[in-house]
Amino acid sequence: MIFIFLGPPGSGKGTQAALIAKNYGINTLSTGDVLRAKAAEDTEPGRQLRQIMQSGYLVPGQLVNQLVAEALSELGSKDIILDGYPRTIEQAHFLAQNVPFEQLVLYFDIQDDLLIKRLTGRFSCAHCKKIYNEHFAKLKHDNTCDICGSKEFVRREDDNPETVTNRLTQYRSETAALIKYYTEQNVLHHVDAEVSVDDIYAKVSKLVKNSLT
Ligand code: AP5
Repeated sequence: MIFIFLGPPGSGKGTQAALIAKNYGINTLSTGDVLRAKAAEDTEPGRQLRQIMQSGYLVPGQLVNQLVAEALSELGSKDIILDGYPRTIEQAHFLAQNVPFEQLVLYFDIQDDLLIKRLTGRFSCAHCKKIYNEHFAKLKHDNTCDICGSKEFVRREDDNPETVTNRLTQYRSETAALIKYYTEQNVLHHVDAEVSVDDIYAKVSKLVKNSLT
């Protein structure tokens, strides 16, 4: 089974993928995380990737498709959550043609005005990667990670207002078409992504659980 987490930047895909992965033991493939690791490499391809991602544009589909195909072939027939892939119709076709598993698409539905605050307020633990937000998902204790106790935190380079605007534009022009595409295939489920993390998790968890049994 492939669970596709689809939604605009900041809609909570990564937060929910981490919770489902932890509670159900399902592997997650976040193309953003994989690409960020590649972009951090001190090589010419790494520098080129970093430039694209810092500007908020999508990385060329051929490269992303190849990374996903490699990761999926390593996992064999295990269930997987795809966080941030596919992001174009062309990527969706590639997935359907090359990976013959059943698909369930969870569309994280949220208005634009909330997204800006979610993205520009995001930070995460430098050690365990737990995601926080300075407005919505604050640390329980000053400057200390709730999970691992680390005092080091990082912000993503693409979470500045200018890049966020570009990322939202890319989402509207390239990714939003997937909502219609997967609706027509009868595999898309709406998730109200404007409510609390716990309320969203209740819905996501139910959909995942039902499709596993
Ligand atoms: P990627 O890393 O995938 O970023 P994204 O899709 O833009 O999504 P985000 O990770 O920013 O947001 P999210 O929905 O996971 O939200 P989160 O849970 O963190 O991609 C980055 C870049 O990589 C792209 O721009 C592109 O260049 C490239 N790329 C990746 N995949 C690609 C592909 N397939 N093809 C081509 N290029 C690709 O939550 C956000 C914040 O909100 C957090 O602070 C969190 O604490 C908070 N929050 C979460 N849920 C709630 C809630 N319910 N209430 C209040 N706050 C909440």
